[in-house]
Amino acid sequence: MNHHRKSELFPKNRVLRRTLYRLLLTAPSLPLAACNGDPECVRGPITLTTENIQLKPDGGVSCDTCPEHPEGAPLTSCGTRTPDGGTKYLSCSYITCSNDGRRPEGLQEAHPHEGADCELGALFAHVAWLEAASVPAFLRLADELAAHGAPEALVQAARRSAGDEVHHTRAMQALALRHGARMPEVDIRPFEPRSLEAMCTENAVEGCVRETFGALVTGWQARTAGDEEVRRALRPISRDELRHAELAWAVDAWAAGRLTPAQRELLLQARRETLSALEQEVSSQTPPARLVREAGVPSREQALNLLQGLTVLVA
Ligand SMILES: [Fe+2]
Ligand SMILES: [Fe+2]
Repeated sequence: MNHHRKSELFPKNRVLRRTLYRLLLTAPSLPLAACNGDPECVRGPITLTTENIQLKPDGGVSCDTCPEHPEGAPLTSCGTRTPDGGTKYLSCSYITCSNDGRRPEGLQEAHPHEGADCELGALFAHVAWLEAASVPAFLRLADELAAHGAPEALVQAARRSAGDEVHHTRAMQALALRHGARMPEVDIRPFEPRSLEAMCTENAVEGCVRETFGALVTGWQARTAGDEEVRRALRPISRDELRHAELAWAVDAWAAGRLTPAQRELLLQARRETLSALEQEVSSQTPPARLVREAGVPSREQALNLLQGLTVLVA
């Protein structure tokens, strides 16, 4: 992959890079002996037996049956498993990865496959799903930028980002498979034409805030994951994600000249609201120790610090 060629499409965003790198300097150095091969693969924290499972009319399983997480973590997914071939279990997963990407409008909730038998698998299956969902998000952005007469560099950067996300999806799928999990289906409602303002709002929310935070978290994981394969997989991805965040800000800057002051004010407000929504999401989660240790997922406090560090940039 030629990262230099990609970064030449538009100038580097020095403020963004400086902010992110400064925050990444606070990442703890790796412990000398990383805990590898934990014999016990920790399952989803809450598992119910079959008699408690509520089935939907089409035979699918309903996640409504899942109880509240004791620490208030939001439910991310549920699925059934039959570990011994007999009893059917419903496993409710509360693992939320702060690893955020560019989610397209109309993205339907993930239905994880059976067999995600440990937290790491579930995490990477979820991340792969997010990566896959951002492919159409970037293709749509490229088409819309072209339709609105944006500079060719931005259009091309959006197309290339879609290509990056295909690679990211494959890399994360491979990690998920290594831990016995498969990526859930990506289901997106068909896109409808929309205004420049609507496109910019999505870019502000999904790009300027969520992808920027995602780039930061991926960079953190690439530095702190105890599992060497995770670090190796995430290193190139974190460089790509940084450019995706730069693209979001470049689109924002380009669009600013075409929007009214009132519209620009609304964008700023959307960014602020997304930042505080993210803050709430992050503060309601305590990532399992295994994810922190092996996948380098920032702890609750670390994630809150990282978010705090983005405030100057975003709001
Ligand atoms: Fe990605
Ligand atoms: Fe991305």
